[in-house]
Amino acid sequence: MTVGVVAFATAAALNTVPATAGKPYDPTTQSLAKLGLRHGLQIGTAVDMAALNDASEPQYRKIVATEFSSVTAENVMKWESLEPTRGNYNWGPADQLVDFAKRNRQSVRGHVLVWQNQLPTWLTSGVADGSISRQELRELLRKHITTVVSRYQGKISQWDVINEAVSDPWDNPPTLHYKGFWAQHLGPDYIADAFRWARAADPKALLFYNDYNIEAFGSGDPADDKTQFVYDMAKRLLAQRVPIDGIGSQGHLGTQYGNYDTLQVAAALKKFGALGLVTAFTEVDVRSQLTEAVQAGDEAEINPRLQASAANFSVLLKACLAVRSCLSYTVWGFSDKYSWVPSWFNDPPEGLATIYDENFQPKRAYYEIKSDLIFAGPPYVLPRIAPKPRR
Ligand code: XIL
Repeated sequence: MTVGVVAFATAAALNTVPATAGKPYDPTTQSLAKLGLRHGLQIGTAVDMAALNDASEPQYRKIVATEFSSVTAENVMKWESLEPTRGNYNWGPADQLVDFAKRNRQSVRGHVLVWQNQLPTWLTSGVADGSISRQELRELLRKHITTVVSRYQGKISQWDVINEAVSDPWDNPPTLHYKGFWAQHLGPDYIADAFRWARAADPKALLFYNDYNIEAFGSGDPADDKTQFVYDMAKRLLAQRVPIDGIGSQGHLGTQYGNYDTLQVAAALKKFGALGLVTAFTEVDVRSQLTEAVQAGDEAEINPRLQASAANFSVLLKACLAVRSCLSYTVWGFSDKYSWVPSWFNDPPEGLATIYDENFQPKRAYYEIKSDLIFAGPPYVLPRIAPKPRR
């Protein structure tokens, strides 16, 4: 009873309408960052460092600085960027993003420590030709995690320690399993090791497992339900006292799929929360197929896509708002001009995946998530929990 009352009091304080001198408060003119703050929720974006540094693109920089309270490096904290040749670190672009965030009072999500993609060639070819042994590979991973996490200790609020370690039902074999370079060469124990090494280098950053297609539970069978597989994995890691703090749900959706409703997504976040984990949406975008009619500008095909995209952005945000352990909502790029989608999904061509168009004009999705932030409040939407990093 008392706990409920205290929580409600905090919520009421956080949700007070700000006093203004004379002028009525107009939430629609506020940034996503500011509106998210009412709930203690961070609204983030992935940042393309080339676009951020492009002097001919002032709007890009301005929107990153003003609309968001959190930033993630889209590429420059990946191993191939940080250590392109063995032993020579290229910290410049990553440092620059961390400095930018500090100047703009933003938090930083660290992305990513351990992943099978965007690894440096010296590492993958060394393993392939046998010049890097299993034992050396494990030591290289330990050193990588320790070096990177130590450098940004205290400057990064959430680290994606492990990314995309679980297979998909369309892989071979179809039974879900640990996939990719690290599982193949080190066995699945690399996951527990990585969390422990990261924790040793930063006692306070929240340590995440991050993956796609885990927005909602399916059959409940870990053989074909990826969310269940990840849930069971997290439970096992916790039982082994591995310092995992959170589950990052990437949130890469497409309007051509069935997708989920808000309650299904909220139920999944709650279930992870019940394990004592925090959660976050870490890479939200909602792509659409660019049919010939779409490319020719046919409104009858474009409008339903923009509307479905907006609805899906909104489903993930409302679910996050509804669950107090969901600490942040990050979009994977904010403008169609710089989205990774058209270059990655081209057969058939896809796009229209972000909340601003190619001319940096806010789309329906932008206004829809803004209205979610405006209309949410107690008793069902309460401030975020205070996370405690696991020792
Ligand atoms: C993508 C970037 O957006 C692209 O620029 C890059 O070429 C490939 O990687 N899941 C992840 C992200 O965890 O790191 C990926 O980012 C998108 C899918």
